[in-house]
Amino acid sequence: MTLSPQFLDELRARTLLSALIGQTTKLQKAGREYRACCPFHNEKSPSFYVNDDKGFYHCFGCSAHGDAIRWMTDQRGLPFMDAVKDLAQSAGMEMPAMDPRAAEKAEAAKGLHEACADAATWFTDQLNGIAGADARAILEKRGIMPETARTFALGYAPDSRSKLKDALKTYGDPLLIEAGLLISVEEKTPYDRFRGRLMIPIRDPRGRTVAFGGRIIGDGEPKYLNSPETPLFDKGRTLYNLDRAAPAARKSGRVLVVEGYMDVIALAQAGFEEAVAPLGTALTEAQLERLWRMSDVPILCLDGDSAGQKAAIRAAHRALPMLAPGRSLAFVTLPQGQDPDDLVRTKGAAAFDALLKSPDPLVDKLWAHELALEPLDTPEQKAGFKHRLNELAGLIADQNVKHEYIAEFRRRFDDLYARKREPFRPFQPQQRTQRKPGQPWKAPPGPVGEGAKGVRAGGIDRILAKAVLAGLIRHPAEIARHMEVLGSLKLADGALGRLFEAVVDLALEDADRGETLDSDRLLTILATSGFDIIAHELLRPDQLSLSFTLRDAEPQRAREDLDEAIAILVSRPEVDAALADATAEMQARYSEAAFDWDKAYERQVALVKEQQALDARLANLVQANEDARAFGAEGN
Ligand code: UTP
Ligand code: MN
Repeated sequence: MTLSPQFLDELRARTLLSALIGQTTKLQKAGREYRACCPFHNEKSPSFYVNDDKGFYHCFGCSAHGDAIRWMTDQRGLPFMDAVKDLAQSAGMEMPAMDPRAAEKAEAAKGLHEACADAATWFTDQLNGIAGADARAILEKRGIMPETARTFALGYAPDSRSKLKDALKTYGDPLLIEAGLLISVEEKTPYDRFRGRLMIPIRDPRGRTVAFGGRIIGDGEPKYLNSPETPLFDKGRTLYNLDRAAPAARKSGRVLVVEGYMDVIALAQAGFEEAVAPLGTALTEAQLERLWRMSDVPILCLDGDSAGQKAAIRAAHRALPMLAPGRSLAFVTLPQGQDPDDLVRTKGAAAFDALLKSPDPLVDKLWAHELALEPLDTPEQKAGFKHRLNELAGLIADQNVKHEYIAEFRRRFDDLYARKREPFRPFQPQQRTQRKPGQPWKAPPGPVGEGAKGVRAGGIDRILAKAVLAGLIRHPAEIARHMEVLGSLKLADGALGRLFEAVVDLALEDADRGETLDSDRLLTILATSGFDIIAHELLRPDQLSLSFTLRDAEPQRAREDLDEAIAILVSRPEVDAALADATAEMQARYSEAAFDWDKAYERQVALVKEQQALDARLANLVQANEDARAFGAEGN
């Protein structure tokens, strides 16, 4: 069925937008418009406006904008056609006639929906009956409460080839086959697809059951059996739990993507109701689009193992052509071998919440992946790395976002290798003579390196700080020697800073008792204070790995490198601050007769040289480490 523009215009004209929105959002009259606290983002004072004359809503806070149809798709989460149907019905409009085949299909779909709904009810009855004892025991063992099982309409398919078929026989075999509930193999009588499985109904965005996932009870293959594609179920367009997650996501302002059904269910039970999962396949474009309708930056929560990380990169690449200003992905990497279900069950909701606090932005994920892909020892390898980054940025269709990515990758690359700064341009002394009396003083252009410093603050400095912290966790015995400087160090980030303090405190306590802390014991103690996840994150091999962050490094080497890294880390903010001071003083005093211009200028140059020397030392450290690794690999 195609809808003509005339039909849609008529539909919009007959829909009173404020009445539609007012059904779920409290509106206040404000002149010719209505005003409300925006239902698309969290706010305290209203910046969301509805204009009936123009037929659109607009939020000045988050830029949500649209007409009645858009409201139904974005706020209610309905597919376009369903949105139009709902509105048409309220407006008393007949939907344009479908072609006869489409009408037939719709009629058939009705039967399929009913069959799926009846199957779900029957599976639930089985779960609650005698046959469901084993399945109930599994749920209990996994910590799924009966109330959660009810919410997600979990069920049980008994180990039989005909019980469901008998229970639903009024539908007839052909329809049950089409619904994916029976399997038909040539010549044989059709039989129940799901046997001896815990049943998880898969719902469409309107909450109707359209398919099932069946988990084996105990061990066996395949672990999950899913409904085949049916007229109701398009795997690549479906996200498990979307119907419940969409309203929750609108409230919390975020949406989580996890790998499995059980992750979604366990998270909902733990209070994270805004989680969805694809159905055992890589995220498709259609699924990404759906996610972006709920939140600008969906958070992908994937396992730290190689399968999970491959999935993360695949999603990252697939998202690139679809990025737009403000629209991206973020990534949370779970501790190795744990999925969100395991995590909330063993460590509680707070542990998962802590991970959600610092997801990696898409750009970090892409950068780290390419950086770890192969060594960067030769000019060819470096050029290859650069080329790959540019290719990735080239996939981005939106010109603005593309250029930001190109620029960001270039900055990071330069920071890592080139160590080239813009040539130092001293303060322009001519300004002193050019200024006419009475003319207000205008600040000269900021000192060179100011921009680069900003990048460093969020970039390499932070990466270095993380590496040093990882080094201290690997070698707690070294902490005592560095106590004095470490005490003065401020790690910008809250979570990192707290971990740093905890590590130093623990090492000190032990030193007081005349003991030396070893890394494994430190990690165990950190785990009891809930720091294990962030510690684990720091020790991940795709972080900047220097000798002292690696498990099996040569001890003397690790020790020397750690000393050097700490020295760089501590000196940098000092030099930066001194340069900023020197420059400020120059700006404030340059017109004073007594001001010794030459001396101040010399000091500024010296400080810039110190900055560059620190950069070079860091580059050496990274480079020497890579050389060592390449050499080690050759020796094997
Ligand atoms: P997982 O193997 O990670 O399962 O598969 P899980 O959700 O953690 O399940 P439990 O905790 O072992 O019970 C993740 C998802 O991949 C799909 C399913 O959608 C599953 O939820 N999958 C997995 C399949 O479709 N078939 C399989 O055989 C396995
Ligand atoms: Mn699991």
